[in-house]
Amino acid sequence: MKVKVFDNSALLYDYLCEKVISKIKENPNITLGLPTGSTPIPLYERLIQAYIDHKVDFANVTSINLDEYVGLGPTHNQSYRYFMDNTLFDHININKANTFVPNGMAKDLKQECENYHNLLVLKKVDLQILGIGTNAHIAFNEPGSSFESITRVVPLSKSTRNDNRRFFKKLEDVPKKAISMGISDILLAKKIIIVAVGSHKAEAIKNMIQGPITEEVPASALQMHSDVLVLLDQEAAKLL
Ligand code: PGA
Repeated sequence: MKVKVFDNSALLYDYLCEKVISKIKENPNITLGLPTGSTPIPLYERLIQAYIDHKVDFANVTSINLDEYVGLGPTHNQSYRYFMDNTLFDHININKANTFVPNGMAKDLKQECENYHNLLVLKKVDLQILGIGTNAHIAFNEPGSSFESITRVVPLSKSTRNDNRRFFKKLEDVPKKAISMGISDILLAKKIIIVAVGSHKAEAIKNMIQGPITEEVPASALQMHSDVLVLLDQEAAKLL
């Protein structure tokens, strides 16, 4: 893994945004793997500004998101489809038909997961952007997830539901399950950039980079991938 530490998060996101733009310029038909959560928001803001400034064209870009809550539809303001539309897609010229987020309202969730996995195999993510949970999850692959896992319905851990509680009125409103790309799905990406900002991520980052490769630390699976770039601010890097 290549690790880059920035003096502050603004510099990190400037760098990340430039990286994404240069990848799109290199290959206008790129497939991007995209995350939700707080971490990517400053990236999405910069990408929107770059689009407004005519510095990037998303017309032929495909995007595949990591996960979605089970039971929340696209109009629910905490669903990840809603988040992606509002935070990025509605502000750029990406073709919505080429943006993929699992359908958390699918009648047959098993079939939905299978279709999503097949989509990943077919489209092949060129550049996967990841955040990391305080428990070192990637997507919603919680500690203990098999490294062989593919897209499936997963239970959300107590710590993840607590972390995400801030987006809901009360803890009981945080869904207990999600559809998540599996670890092996994520490792299919040709290039991975994982981003962490803030001291609450420091321990997960230390375990991901310096700890043993273990299913108890889902992000440690990234040590097995040949092209991973880790972008950190000083706080997230403080235990390295
Ligand atoms: P966050 O979540 O970006 O909201 O911190 C990251 C994650 O859980 O993967």
